[in-house]
Amino acid sequence: MNDQAQRLRELARQKQVENTASERVVNAVPTELIKCRSIAVTSGKGGVGKTNIALFLAVTLSTARKRVLLMDADLGLANVHILLGMAPANNISHFIDGDCRLEEVICRGPGGFDILPGASGLEKLANIDIGRLELLQKEFSKLEKDYDYLLIDTGAGIGASVTQFASRADTVLLVMTPEPTSLADAYAMVKVLYEKGTRKIAVLVNMATSEKEGTETFDRLNALVVKFLKKPLEMVGTLPVSRDLSRSVRRQQVLILEKGQEQMAARVQAIIRKLSGLTFTGRQSFFSRFLGR
Ligand SMILES: Nc1ncnc2c1ncn2[C@@H]1O[C@H](COP(=O)(O)OP(=O)(O)OP(=O)(O)O)[C@@H](O)[C@H]1O
Ligand SMILES: [Mg+2]
Repeated sequence: MNDQAQRLRELARQKQVENTASERVVNAVPTELIKCRSIAVTSGKGGVGKTNIALFLAVTLSTARKRVLLMDADLGLANVHILLGMAPANNISHFIDGDCRLEEVICRGPGGFDILPGASGLEKLANIDIGRLELLQKEFSKLEKDYDYLLIDTGAGIGASVTQFASRADTVLLVMTPEPTSLADAYAMVKVLYEKGTRKIAVLVNMATSEKEGTETFDRLNALVVKFLKKPLEMVGTLPVSRDLSRSVRRQQVLILEKGQEQMAARVQAIIRKLSGLTFTGRQSFFSRFLGR
């Protein structure tokens, strides 16, 4: 027992020596000790920046040599690949229908992370026969062994499919903006997720005009949640309004990979450090939980 602990400590030490200072923080827990960590990026209101933020997280984690799979789980408007200017030949639906293998769906994004494109078709899983469902569950769960992080970009709103994805993830990252409508929708989302058993929800305030506005936005939501739902939220950071984002979206580039975006990139790194520090509660793979009936 002691020998094994000693070996793990030695492995962790070697890994730390290899890594740069910024990676060391992300590597607070040695990869050997954790299974794939699933993070669902979700929101109550639409258009608050989820897909761009999921891409920022994917790029930043893979730059820190984490193995990342970004799953596009927006059933109606799968668009991760559009933001990247990619046209994948297959999507999850092809795999579910048995038209291709899971490996044939995955494609490589900029910076080295993998993408599971377009989840349109996942709603079919509700009616699939149990034998086939178990097979799919096995294949998806096997896939998770190859990654340190599974990032799930969900659609918006408290509909069943979005909350199903979000509530099965180890960590929920709820994105909101300072707009009052976003506050109301974020509260509705928190309520539904708590009802579905989510233990911890991390909040990111996007498109804030200042750090202060970000903190105040979070405080407003958290005060309501504490008062009525009795379980506080975790603030993981603020991202500012960026005049450059819409230009990089039009060019189908990831903003934080561009020159002059070091500040934005540093903010994303800080958000990841906070997210990684949140309690990790997953005992089962994401797909076992998601597909379990
Ligand atoms: N920090 C920001 N500063 C300026 N514009 C932003 C910022 N974040 C997102 N946007 C803009 O908001 C729009 C929506 O972004 P995005 O597609 O990432 O949102 P979403 O939450 O994924 O939307 P949906 O709910 O439709 O999936 C984009 O046009 C993007 O350029
Ligand atoms: Mg989106």
